[in-house]
Amino acid sequence: MTIFSGELLKNKAFNGWNLFWLVSGPISIAMLIAMAGADLSGGAGVSAMIQLSVRCAVPWLYLTFAASSLHVLLPGPLTRWLLRNRKFFGLIFAAAMAWQGFFILWMVIIHSDYYINEVYVLRDAIEGVVGYIFLAAMTFTSFPFGRKLLSPRLWRYLHKAGIYFLWAYAFSVYWWALFYYPNPLPIDYIFYWGGFLAWAVRAAAWNKKRLRLAEKKTRENNAQPTFKLIGIAVVALGLIAAGFGSLWFDTAEEWLTGYAFTRVPELYLPYWPFQPYLPLFVIALGTLLMTRAKA
Ligand code: HEM
Repeated sequence: MTIFSGELLKNKAFNGWNLFWLVSGPISIAMLIAMAGADLSGGAGVSAMIQLSVRCAVPWLYLTFAASSLHVLLPGPLTRWLLRNRKFFGLIFAAAMAWQGFFILWMVIIHSDYYINEVYVLRDAIEGVVGYIFLAAMTFTSFPFGRKLLSPRLWRYLHKAGIYFLWAYAFSVYWWALFYYPNPLPIDYIFYWGGFLAWAVRAAAWNKKRLRLAEKKTRENNAQPTFKLIGIAVVALGLIAAGFGSLWFDTAEEWLTGYAFTRVPELYLPYWPFQPYLPLFVIALGTLLMTRAKA
């Protein structure tokens, strides 16, 4: 019986609420142990706990984000297990983010000076609060009593918009850590490329579905060779841009900010002007061109 045989993954211990407690139990114990050893009398100590709790949360966010697409790309016992337990990976993320929320409140209420002087930026606070509103709504509607309050379509819109918003938050934090702030840590690279991979899996599954649809319509793989080549070049450009953000950051900043009409988005609009996602838009455009069907 191996992990890939599927038998192990069908075991009750690794599914549903058992899986939830199997993962979020140790995360909570680790948080309590870290708290016992931390100096929480100052903002910096609490900030370190915020960081630790998020690092325990983000992998489950990426897994939830990629689960269904992984199953489209690589159908099998492991991806079926991922899909079967997607809700519980989401709840594990929510439980770990509850710890971050606890330490954020601790910082804002007990160490308000530190929060105001070292952390507070209006647009970041807007992004963070919207993120938590999405997370709370997604968690509440993951239970039957919450789910029945929404139509199936609204439920899908909420969970799709919410998971994209939360993925975008985490991905952008690590993009800035790598390409804007000095001395990125190895873990920042792992979480940045992890976030990129989670998105790339979705893009690849979308591409696979588009190709399958086109082939169904025309009974042949009818991508136009010229467009395919241009598409491959555009995807390659996007990949290079995703790996070398600091090379084009200043130019993008110059082109995208500082105008009268961008003043309000620069102050309030989450993620504006979207630098971390620009390479992804380029890759998506390239994918679109690669699969552009013959008329
Ligand atoms: C108002 C809400 C929020 C506040 C005040 C807040 C505050 C903070 C603070 C102070 C840190 C820095 C910790 C440190 O480096 O010492 C941090 C890091 C981080 N936060 Fe939040 N946060 C909020 C919401 C969110 C949300 C919704 C997400 C979504 C995923 C998130 C993801 C992250 C990530 C990925 C990091 C980087 C952790 C690392 O260094 O690896 N935060 N946050």
